[in-house]
Amino acid sequence: MAKRTIVALPGDGIGAIVLKQAVRVLDAAGFNAEYIYGDIGWEFWRKEGNPLPQRTLDLIAKHKTALFGAITSKPNEEAKAELDPSLQGKGFTYSSPIVGLRQYFDLDICIRPCRSYTGNPLNFVRRGPGGVIEEPFIDVVIFRQNTECLYSGVEWTNPPAEVYKAFLTHPKFRQNFGNVPVEELSISARIFTRKATERILLAAFEYAEKYGYKSVTVCEKPNVVRETSGLMWKLAKDIQKSRFPSIKLLNTNIDAQMMWLTKNPEDYGVIVAGNMFGDIASDGFAGLIGGLGFACSAQFSSDGIAVFEPTHGSAPKYAGYEIPIVNPIAMIESCCMMLDYLEEKKIADSVHNAIAEVIREGKVKTYDMMKMQGRPEVIQEGAASTIQMTDAIISKLRK
Ligand code: NAI
Ligand code: MG
Repeated sequence: MAKRTIVALPGDGIGAIVLKQAVRVLDAAGFNAEYIYGDIGWEFWRKEGNPLPQRTLDLIAKHKTALFGAITSKPNEEAKAELDPSLQGKGFTYSSPIVGLRQYFDLDICIRPCRSYTGNPLNFVRRGPGGVIEEPFIDVVIFRQNTECLYSGVEWTNPPAEVYKAFLTHPKFRQNFGNVPVEELSISARIFTRKATERILLAAFEYAEKYGYKSVTVCEKPNVVRETSGLMWKLAKDIQKSRFPSIKLLNTNIDAQMMWLTKNPEDYGVIVAGNMFGDIASDGFAGLIGGLGFACSAQFSSDGIAVFEPTHGSAPKYAGYEIPIVNPIAMIESCCMMLDYLEEKKIADSVHNAIAEVIREGKVKTYDMMKMQGRPEVIQEGAASTIQMTDAIISKLRK
């Protein structure tokens, strides 16, 4: 196996904690890689006025594959107050380095798998016929368009005259909002492009085909949001008909999907959605498999950049503990996604199976798996630390 170069972006808070443990697992599993550490996050905002320095972007552009922990974001005014005094009042404005990364590299495809682990005490259960407790096995992979939709940042409060004038040309705007004073209007644009919509749909269908999922579900709202959701639904029908006739195409509305979430989550496989509905659906499904300690993700561009990261944030309140308590599994599973992508299937399976075995055995559980509130005392009360959980996973690796 050739030696790989991976850009490691610890970020801050628990991001740095879980990334360090994930690298231990990768080393122990025999993944032959050199890690080049990149600067990202709060520290670099404070010291340099930029949480995502150009040198970090250059590193990722050069080496293509990155593992990312998590970063802290704060509202602009708070962020400015924490800037180094030498930088204050010099016009620096804070913007999220995660959004920055996505935009800079056009990481438009986001994949978030949500699979139950047998024996996870956090698995979703429901009451079945005769009052029996059922624990449906969930195996859902969410494809979220990652760069467009309501998160594109095209929005105004008190829109400029030319924008307002353009809106007035729409009969529905005239009829429903024509009398609202312009300074009382806030507008966020939901933008879908044909190219990006096709890319996320194709990625979803190709994944379904490769991994044997029988259906792809478009989770949007085309009956109401006719143009953007409608575009995705129309393109999905075209793509399914012309290229993937053996895969069933299903359509759920995001609101109904949230209701079906607890009624029949086992009926879904690959789900594809725009940015916002994909964000909502992936958090919803992640809740069924144990929540943020288990939710992993990957982001891809069309030109070979890939960033793997847990869905959770930097949880700063848990970052300063002498013995770290947070669950490293979301980060380690994100590494499995990276290993799969790099076609290191044997190592990926070995790490994934080791995690599954630790959970099935049920001897080593982090505080979240014991339904405890996060506090330093959870360790004395029987919860495994981040490091003990990592050690347990390493001990189950089969080489
Ligand atoms: P968060 O995901 O950091 O934490 C929320 C709660 O989830 C925590 O208080 C904890 O109870 C639980 N949790 C998170 N990760 C866990 C883990 N590995 N094991 C066990 N429990 C875990 O979200 P929050 O508190 O809303 O945001 C904290 C900071 O993180 C903010 O500055 C926010 O902007 C940032 N953030 C960064 C993200 C990223 O880097 N990708 C994503 C989301 C938030
Ligand atoms: Mg989210």
